[in-house]
Amino acid sequence: FPAENVRNFSIIAHVDHGKSTLADRLLELTATIRRGGPAQYLDKLQVEKDRGITVKAQTVTLVHEIDSKPYLLNLIDTPGHVDFSYEVSRSLSACQGVILLVDAAQGIQAQTVANFYLAFELDLAIIPVLNKIDVPTADPERCKDQLQNMFDIDPDSVLQVSAKTGKNLPELLRAVIEHVPPPRGSKDAKLQVLLFDCFFDEYRGVICLVEVINGVLQKGDQVISKASGKMYDVLQVGVFHPEPVPTGSLHTGQVGYIITGMKTTREARIGDTFCRTREEKEVEALPGFRPAKSMVYAGLYPLDASEFDLLRIALEKLTLNDASIAVAQEATAALGMGFRCGFLGLLHMDVVTQRLEQEYNLKVVVTPPTVPYEVHHENGTVETISNPSQMPPSHEVASILEPTVIATIITPQEYVGGLLTLCSARRGEQLEYTFIDDARALLKYRIPLPEIVTGFYDELKSKSSGYASLDYEEDKWVAADVVQLSIRVNGEPVDAMTTLVHRSKSLRAGKDAVSRFRDILSRQLFQIAIQAVVDNRVIARETLSAMRKDVLAKCYGGDVSRKRKLLEKQKEGKKRMKRVGNVEIPQEAFVGKPGRS
Ligand code: GTP
Repeated sequence: FPAENVRNFSIIAHVDHGKSTLADRLLELTATIRRGGPAQYLDKLQVEKDRGITVKAQTVTLVHEIDSKPYLLNLIDTPGHVDFSYEVSRSLSACQGVILLVDAAQGIQAQTVANFYLAFELDLAIIPVLNKIDVPTADPERCKDQLQNMFDIDPDSVLQVSAKTGKNLPELLRAVIEHVPPPRGSKDAKLQVLLFDCFFDEYRGVICLVEVINGVLQKGDQVISKASGKMYDVLQVGVFHPEPVPTGSLHTGQVGYIITGMKTTREARIGDTFCRTREEKEVEALPGFRPAKSMVYAGLYPLDASEFDLLRIALEKLTLNDASIAVAQEATAALGMGFRCGFLGLLHMDVVTQRLEQEYNLKVVVTPPTVPYEVHHENGTVETISNPSQMPPSHEVASILEPTVIATIITPQEYVGGLLTLCSARRGEQLEYTFIDDARALLKYRIPLPEIVTGFYDELKSKSSGYASLDYEEDKWVAADVVQLSIRVNGEPVDAMTTLVHRSKSLRAGKDAVSRFRDILSRQLFQIAIQAVVDNRVIARETLSAMRKDVLAKCYGGDVSRKRKLLEKQKEGKKRMKRVGNVEIPQEAFVGKPGRS
């Protein structure tokens, strides 16, 4: 296929607007998969199936003919979630165009806006498409108005399709071929290859997804990484159709995979450039992508301490495939040995913990999510603190910076009031308040990330009866008056419960924490004092008076089997206790609120 017959494109959409369904249908239409085959071919992981979301970008090559001319279409699947705009942006830079897919019943949502701007900034051709026009509540005219208002898109250029019934999909493929420009590289130029994704395959090792920007890549070539200077032999080259099919070479503009004998996905730096080893000096690195950065941290501990090694092995395997998870071993008095893990965001955290349960059958305690802080010491040094208990004492600290995000919220008008209150209670700074049509508003706020990771999304959903959508992207780090809040039980600090909070919220957070603890701790033979402490000062306190919790108290009469059941239940509960000082604390005390499941 000459480069002018190649099209590299992607589908971008808000979650649930039908991206995977459309991708599957395009695979069928181009006879890449059988009709009625396994649904959602591109969603491979079990969690992706369970949650109906795409986590890891996959790419697939299709062949389609129009006007008796065959075209090679590379569909690059992008993950469709709030945490992953980083992955979206790296996949998009291997494309020349996108299908901007909007659910015709839902209209533009927060991620539609975010994705549109990602594509727009990369100067990609944008094909606006309304999906689900078979749904009775679809309102294509209204959606077209929104697209025009928001993005200046000509209503006549908007295609209306149904990924479910297949309506207008051949027209969509034609639009891709006509509107997405072919890749611009030259086959005669020196080899330049963009690495835009990678994954680990048990049988084949690390598989790198690449686009050949210039030149021709062949099996047997020796290439060098511009980022690391490491040399690799290209052992195999191919395309996904949809399974990996070796082709021996990849031509200019083509998207496919290479296998080089890399040991781990950490070697495959996303955004890296490969060139021929002997041409290293003459070939420039492509403009880099930003590396994955952990923005949410949590402690992961085995529920059963004897499973620590199993957890370690499982995390090693997971990071093999997902280099964006940061892992460091840690130990706390309350929870024992575990790992402090860094994630791209809350959803990423949920996905990883869910995979540990599903694929590795491990029960883990996940401590409440926290964010990194940049600490400027009095002596001039700067460090990033990802574990609240490692915050240096306040007299050593000159200033603390917290990460912020720009949040985009789209909501029906009637919920605007409640959401404005929510955003300002979360220390948000309003940047924009506009209407996308006569009934829907768009809010833009700068909000500190610590406010987002503590249940913001759930509150947003409950304040809008589920109708508001949210997307956010990283913004600058700003100075914040942050204090360390620790919890003591009978004078003993419960290290795993230490958090960093904004001073203005410390009293509320302290009160909440001690009353939650009081409710969770069972009464014991002695009195227990629960205290919240900031700067060595007790700011909140609850006392649990002494009393033995008698599980049999509710058992009138002598039903033996019921008694035994209750005693067993109590024993079961005991196993999940952690001891701090002389107090036993149930595991649930340490478990973070579910992020956004
Ligand atoms: P992510 O992978 O999380 O980004 O979601 P998605 O955008 O891929 O959505 P998905 O394809 O999973 O579709 C979401 C739901 O909409 C599924 O239940 C689909 O069956 C349904 N759906 C998708 N396209 C259509 C359509 O054209 N008509 C109707 N009626 N339903 C559709």
